[in-house]
Amino acid sequence: MGASHSLMGRVALITGAGGEIGGAIARRFAQEGAAIAVADVRLEAAQAAARAITDAGGQAIAIHLDVAEESSCAEAVRAATTHFGKLTSLVNVAAAVTPDGTVETLTLADWNKALAVNLTGPWTMSKYAVPHIRSAGGGTIINIASQLGQIGVPGRAPYSTTKAALIQLTTCLACDHAEDNIRVNSLSPGAIDTERSLRRFGTREIANRTRGPLYLLKRTGTVDEIAAGAVFLASDESSFMTGADLLIDGGYLAFKGGAKTQA
Ligand SMILES: NC(=O)c1ccc[n+]([C@@H]2O[C@H](COP(=O)([O-])OP(=O)(O)OC[C@H]3O[C@@H](n4cnc5c(N)ncnc54)[C@H](O)[C@@H]3O)[C@@H](O)[C@H]2O)c1
Repeated sequence: MGASHSLMGRVALITGAGGEIGGAIARRFAQEGAAIAVADVRLEAAQAAARAITDAGGQAIAIHLDVAEESSCAEAVRAATTHFGKLTSLVNVAAAVTPDGTVETLTLADWNKALAVNLTGPWTMSKYAVPHIRSAGGGTIINIASQLGQIGVPGRAPYSTTKAALIQLTTCLACDHAEDNIRVNSLSPGAIDTERSLRRFGTREIANRTRGPLYLLKRTGTVDEIAAGAVFLASDESSFMTGADLLIDGGYLAFKGGAKTQA
């Protein structure tokens, strides 16, 4: 992928950047010229992702972050701004892995964990990032939601509900901070070829065979396709876009997962 340097001079803090989608976003942002604070609850994964960027000639630091802890969010923003001198972009990627189940089978702890990481985490990170982005003259916040935030999903109420709420949080933050020149958008991926989604199917082959037909494009997506969308939302290419959700789902929602017309 050729870089156009669309993020030259920017500084981005990316949560969950030790993971697959977050790591791909971090690498693409760095290729586009941004300096990256790679933050994750798994410090070693964050360090590996940061090293991949610096080995390729980019700028990155690794930060330990638990988005469910307010003090950790505050410290991550402090570490990033101290190191790079400013902050212009926050990308909230971190999400908890929670078991599938119904209100009868899941525990309150399962529900609370999804809320704490998937929804309260982006709120708290925004709370500490906004003053820095404002004082840098403005910038962007991107919340990674999901196509499952827009439809009912059996057995996945905590995940689906927190992603729906994250899309709404995005619109509210956009309203609150337009005056600060901070654009806030969410990005909703469809199923992407990652360990997170493979966990449900076992192998990539089975996952693609099972899910491909549910997509208009007859396949699942790649982390690079999500990273490209995130670069667009962080760059001036999307300068007239705020409070919106960018759906990158291979046509899953348009196709209603292949549902046959009943009427
Ligand atoms: N993979 C998909 O098919 C898919 C589809 C739609 C949306 N998404 C969303 O994309 C994002 C990334 O997904 P992924 O597939 O790369 O998952 P992943 O599990 O590889 O990455 C998530 C990262 O978040 C980190 N994390 C978890 N809890 C944390 C916490 N409390 N504080 C800080 N970091 C924490 C994990 O350590 C991990 O590195 C998630 O928000 C997910 O909901 C993924």
